[in-house]
Amino acid sequence: MVFWYKIADDAQQLPWQPNGLCSVTVLGKPRILARVANTCKAFAAGCPHAGAPLIDGTLTARGEVVCPLHHYRFRIENGYNSSGEGYRLKTYLVEEREDGVYLGLSESPENG
Ligand code: FES
Repeated sequence: MVFWYKIADDAQQLPWQPNGLCSVTVLGKPRILARVANTCKAFAAGCPHAGAPLIDGTLTARGEVVCPLHHYRFRIENGYNSSGEGYRLKTYLVEEREDGVYLGLSESPENG
């Protein structure tokens, strides 16, 4: 089951950094958004390898986020560890609707 959380009225209002990423807090946890090819994607804030903050990562032209610590790469679309170390980055659903941008999580407000 997916629970949708509105994070902004418009994607332009999100606090984008120069590296093309922004952090939003939903259910008390930071989540990272990336804007690629005019579409928002979302993923967990911590690298699945050793927890480095992916908000400080870089985006590649191939739609990957590169971790700032050991430079492992993850596809932001599905979390696949494209540099081949066998980890998986948790990703979230994002919908840009007429009334705002929504993040889709499997966590409900009660147990989130
Ligand atoms: S903590 Fe991200 S690659 Fe090691």
